[in-house]
Amino acid sequence: MRLVPILLLAATLMPTPPPSHYPRKTNVAHRGASAYAPEHTLAAYRMALEQGADFVEQDLAVTKDGVLICLHDPSLERTTNVEEVFPSRFTEVDFGGRLRRTWLANDFTLAEIKQLDAGSWFDPKFRGERVPTFDEAVALIRGRAGMFPELKTPEIYEGRDVRFEELVAVALDRHGLRGPRADPGTPIILQTFGEGSARRLAAMKIGVPVALLIERGEGWDEARVRSWQGIVQDLAPAKRIVLDNPAFVRWAHDAGLTVTPYTFRSADSGRFPSVAAEMAHFLYTLGVDALFTDNPDLFPRRSVR
Ligand code: G3P
Ligand code: CA
Repeated sequence: MRLVPILLLAATLMPTPPPSHYPRKTNVAHRGASAYAPEHTLAAYRMALEQGADFVEQDLAVTKDGVLICLHDPSLERTTNVEEVFPSRFTEVDFGGRLRRTWLANDFTLAEIKQLDAGSWFDPKFRGERVPTFDEAVALIRGRAGMFPELKTPEIYEGRDVRFEELVAVALDRHGLRGPRADPGTPIILQTFGEGSARRLAAMKIGVPVALLIERGEGWDEARVRSWQGIVQDLAPAKRIVLDNPAFVRWAHDAGLTVTPYTFRSADSGRFPSVAAEMAHFLYTLGVDALFTDNPDLFPRRSVR
């Protein structure tokens, strides 16, 4: 008769096993090793692997001919020489009441995008780096780290006949990277700021963990955190959300969700003496499970003062 309470007590004292997508504190290279090489180039991804990243992040965009490429912005002008190569191919958009020229990636074919230099803006020594396709990223990273693709700005494809989630699912299938028979050497976690996109991925039973990115903390109480249980497997807040409200981590863990804040960079470590100290505080004091960093070489495997 006393067996049941004793078993219950034992169960409550057992440490919760780490989720299979994060077997240890996890180092996600943000846009590759983007403190040292131009973001989302194979050079940045290669460096992230050399620096020991557990996962390498990709932001995904879709070309005019329906190819997934790795690019943070919806447009090409910040990180390539598109204005020189295709000077007349811009769209004018209203930006806070002023018209601004922009070169949307979705208005260019892959062959056109491959003509662009994606390295010189960062440092002339990277001249000739190209915008990689998702397939090229897989070919480089496969078996050496996990991949953490973000379905970037899904809203810009509305009315453009692009089924972003389906394109990603097809790409993962092509590489054998989702579902029960997925390659264990290349774990995948998808991420999105789009709540609709996260729900579509869940409805599709996408077969890999999904992280919901959160830019602003307002309205994120415990009930809202819990409401994502069973839809996504991770919450990925801007780091200030966790700093302002450390209970966020407990709320997520109680709901069975991991926490992966962004973005940690040597160029901005806030009130901390170094980015390593900042990352250590989040990992070992606030208890987050993983984090996105531009400096994967500085990821602390233990507490740092
Ligand atoms: O995806 C995590 C972090 O990368 C979100 O911010 O703008 O760098 O994609 P962003
Ligand atoms: Ca991102």
